[in-house]
Amino acid sequence: MSTVLVLNGPNLGRLGSREPDVYGSANLDDLRALLVASARAGVNIDLRQTDDEAELIHWLYEAVDERMPVILNPAAFTHYSYALRDAAALVTKAGLLLIEVHISNPHARETFRHTSVVSAIATGVIAGLGFDSYRLALDFVTAP
Ligand code: DQA
Repeated sequence: MSTVLVLNGPNLGRLGSREPDVYGSANLDDLRALLVASARAGVNIDLRQTDDEAELIHWLYEAVDERMPVILNPAAFTHYSYALRDAAALVTKAGLLLIEVHISNPHARETFRHTSVVSAIATGVIAGLGFDSYRLALDFVTAP
């Protein structure tokens, strides 16, 4: 069994009720169910959410130590957290895949969302496709 870490940053625990016009009406349990249902055989989905920058950073260390690929929605940390960026860089520098995902398309929104301090160290970025951003990232990181 291989494990994929699916890490979600601040306010994503409120999916379902948070700005449904932007993020839809499904919540993180729905996302987990979607990913589990679409995972390849032998792939375990470990989906987590935190509002705490330090916790998110420590989960990225865990990805390095346990050699797990990461699907990361850094949420608002995307736009300003150099600490998160540096921790995410440890993952890709260790030769592990890290896909930055977003439910919405930040480039079509407010100007402050147009900058990602994470993208430059990510393996790739998928944005604007709703939960399909995660599903496509999962397909990529678990491709045979
Ligand atoms: C988000 C986009 C970010 O700008 C925002 O702060 C989020 C969610 C997305 O998934 O679309 O919290 O990462």
